[in-house]
Amino acid sequence: RQADGICGDMCNDMCDGIWTNARIAPAGNPAQVILDGAMAVRDGLIAWIGSAADLPAEYNNADWPQHDAGNRWITPGLIDCHTHLVYGGNRADEFSLRLAGASYEEIARNGGGIVSTVQATRAADEDDLFGQAARRLEALLAEGVTTIEIKSGYGLDLATERKMLRVARRLGEHYPVTVYTTFLGAHALPPEYQGRADDYITLVCDEMLPALHAEGLVDAVDVFCENIGFSVAQSERVFVAASKLGLPVKMHADQLSNIGGTRLAARFKAISADHLEHLGEADVQAMRESGTVAVLLPGAYYFIRETKLPPLELLRRYQIPIAISTDSNPGTSPTTSLLLMLNMSCTLFRMTTAEVLMGVTSHAALALGKAGQHGLLAAGRGADFVLWNVESLAELAYWSGLNPCDAIVRAGRLSP
Ligand code: NIG
Ligand code: FE
Repeated sequence: RQADGICGDMCNDMCDGIWTNARIAPAGNPAQVILDGAMAVRDGLIAWIGSAADLPAEYNNADWPQHDAGNRWITPGLIDCHTHLVYGGNRADEFSLRLAGASYEEIARNGGGIVSTVQATRAADEDDLFGQAARRLEALLAEGVTTIEIKSGYGLDLATERKMLRVARRLGEHYPVTVYTTFLGAHALPPEYQGRADDYITLVCDEMLPALHAEGLVDAVDVFCENIGFSVAQSERVFVAASKLGLPVKMHADQLSNIGGTRLAARFKAISADHLEHLGEADVQAMRESGTVAVLLPGAYYFIRETKLPPLELLRRYQIPIAISTDSNPGTSPTTSLLLMLNMSCTLFRMTTAEVLMGVTSHAALALGKAGQHGLLAAGRGADFVLWNVESLAELAYWSGLNPCDAIVRAGRLSP
């Protein structure tokens, strides 16, 4: 996907060299841009970034390949910080039921919903799961995603949770993307534990999490804290187990109701609380104190035809960093377009184009607890960036369906 005029013959696949003639938004913030930008890239890292006029002489010699960005906009590689990308099958049949009047909660209570995806995921072998997830990942990457979080949670037994997390890791090895894995064993109650939720939480805390952590498969731990998910007390047990292993926690909180999830998450200094349609002021205050990032998921809001909006004004008043993500999953957000989520966050949530851009760059990095590694173009950081064929950065949230991504450089390498 190399556009005319970018790199030309200069660039094989390593994009080491000097990038000039670029308009750069180093933190994804349209209020802080470099209009005559230049960037020096070496060994996969940014060696220097600033105004072309200030480019140090050492970079201004023939040893450095020159890349003309053609006055395109450059942002950090996009970050999709909340996905359930790996799963078997799909739930188009359930979509039809919902269109006929059934609610997401009713379907879940009648044994459909998440549990039906669990059956399909258990039945699929690792290569099959990889193939199914890969085509969704390819669609995300084509729009400039260079970092993604992928959750487990459709296995609900040790073997299948392991299979999902292994597939997530393999995706990161096969594609030009950094994958962070999240263990979401407490996503739903598996059918074999019907009526024994506390016993299932014991399995999650005492067996599944320690084993998967020991295998290096877990970067963070998530819980679906909800009436149709797990209670605050059960969620707390999972957070205690995660904290003992030194793992960061996050939560699916206040999506369908407010049972106190976000306040629990804040008590455990969760890196993010996600969904948040039913969030109240006391919850926002708690997030402010704990430094928890709000992750908003407009795809799920839209797809389950939710009408309760997340409290944007409260989040702004308390200056909570807001991230945006696809929540890519078969039940509530079968989308593979992060750019569409920018558009929906503006139209549905009334966010500004500046807010949503930071929501998929610097604030999404914060939501992953990886602000030191991603979401910012600065000297010493990884060279993960995207060249956009747009006149203004607002266009990234404006179009739906058009992909203005012209080229993607990840770890200093031009993506195919
Ligand atoms: O983020 N809320 C729980 N988990 C997913 C939905 C999972 C599913 O329905 O398969 C979500 O919305
Ligand atoms: Fe989710």
